[in-house]
Formats: sequence, C-alpha cells, structure tokens
Amino acid sequence: VGALSTEFVPAAGVPRAVDDVVDVWRADLATEADRSLLSGDEQARAARFIRAEHRRNWGTARAILRALLAGYLDTDPRALRFELGPQGKPALPAPHHDLRFNVSHSRAIALYAITRGREVGVDVEHEDRRVEAVGLARRVFGDKEAERLGALDETTRRHQFMRAWVRYEAAVKCLGTGIAGDDGAALGEHAPWVGEFDVGPGTIGAVSVVGRPPQLRYWEWSPR
Ligand SMILES: CC(C)(COP(=O)(O)OP(=O)(O)OC[C@H]1O[C@@H](n2cnc3c(N)ncnc32)[C@H](O)[C@@H]1OP(=O)(O)O)[C@@H](O)C(=O)NCCC(=O)NCCS
Repeated sequence: VGALSTEFVPAAGVPRAVDDVVDVWRADLATEADRSLLSGDEQARAARFIRAEHRRNWGTARAILRALLAGYLDTDPRALRFELGPQGKPALPAPHHDLRFNVSHSRAIALYAITRGREVGVDVEHEDRRVEAVGLARRVFGDKEAERLGALDETTRRHQFMRAWVRYEAAVKCLGTGIAGDDGAALGEHAPWVGEFDVGPGTIGAVSVVGRPPQLRYWEWSPR
C-alpha cells in the first residue's frame, strides 16, 4: 500500500508559523527565482557546481529558502544570515532562532519544512535512484531488514527500501547529525516523529519533528 496522495495547495502568500504545525513546501527548481537574493558566499557556492543544471537548482533552492523564511519573518530576504550546526545543519541565529526549517532537494524538486520552536527535518527522494539497497539497509537498518529486503523482487525491494530511507533521512536531518554521525538515535526508542507523503510521480518525501505529532500543511511554492 502506498502513501496517500498528497495535495500541495498553491499558497497566496506565506502563512504564519504556528506551534504544532509543520508547513511542507514543494518547489519546482526549473522555475524562475530571484537570484539576486543570494549572498556573495552563496553566489560563489553556486558557481562551484560543474553542471549548469546543478548550479541552477542549488541557487534556485537557496533563493526560494530566503524568500520563504523572509515571508514568515516579515523581513528582508537579503538580510537573513544562516549559522551551521556541528554537522552542518543550517539554522537562523537569534533573534529568529524560534523559526526552524530544513531543506531537501533531489533533481529539480525542493522540499522545505518550516515550523516553530522545535527541530525539524525533511527529505525527498526519487524512487528510481540507483542505490545498493541491501548493503545500505544492512548498514543502517540491520541484518534482519537487509535479509528481508534481499528476498523481495527488485521492484518491491526498491520501493520498500526507498520509503524506509526517506523516513530515516528525515529523522537524521531533524536531529542534525548527518548519516555518518548517527549513532542509532534516528531509529531508536527516542527517535523523532516521522510522517511520509507522496511528492509527485515516483517521488516520495518525509518530514520529522522532535516531540508530539504535528499538524501538516502542504503548500506549492510559486514565484510572484
Ligand atoms: C545532509 C545529509 C543528512 C543529507 O544530505 P542529502 O540527502 O544528500 O541532501 P538533501 O538535499 O536531503 O539535504 C541537503 C540540505 O540539508 C541541509 N543540511 C546540511 N547538513 C545537515 C545536517 N547535518 N542536518 C540536517 N540538515 C542538513 C542543508 O540545508 C542542505 O541543503 P544545501 O546543500 O542547499 O545547503 C547528509 O549529511 C548526509 O548524511 N547524506 C548522506 C547521503 C547518503 O549517504 N546517501 C546514500 C545513498 S541513498
């Protein structure tokens, strides 16, 4: 059984951030975005991608992040500064630290999860991505799960692995540790809450927060 199909609602402006609500935004990175919102460092980072498509996608994703966060904060998108956690998770410094966000991009799709007062993580994956499912599953989910997946036909294995993976990545990104730094906390007894959803054909997403299950709102970003 797949996830319920999710409707991303075109947003008329940016809503208020509310406690216990996570806004999940989907953006098409092939659309126009105002690149002049990027800082000098960000322009330089974008320029380092070798492929034009990666350059465009990364710059667009960052410009949209600035526009979105500035909308919630009712501030100038160019004035936003980001600080990085110990494993590289970007966050807003004071006085905006209460607004929490996380970003994921895959090909020309970006997802943004935005909430207040607690850590959040998001991940998007294309199900046809080439991965060594059994080997990765053994490393991350353990021998039993690797063997279970190994016994399935290729299509079912890929499908089930990618769904477990997107959930895992969202939890890891919520905790901010990165895959390499995860000591089992993302899957353990005190793992953060994770919800899964469809992003588009063959594309799945998951969002994760620390604490009680939130209400989720799904929004489609569009340039204006
Ligand atoms: C960040 C991480 C957790 C996920 O990266 P990813 O899946 O490659 O990429 P995503 O697009 O989902 O996320 C990237 C974004 O997460 C954010 N991010 C970076 N470090 C982060 C961290 N430690 N925690 C949470 N978010 C982080 C950034 O906003 C980044 O966007 P940016 O590059 O535009 O600044 C990465 O540290 C990681 O561990 N990747 C492992 C990937 C892997 O092993 N894949 C195996 C094959 S399936």
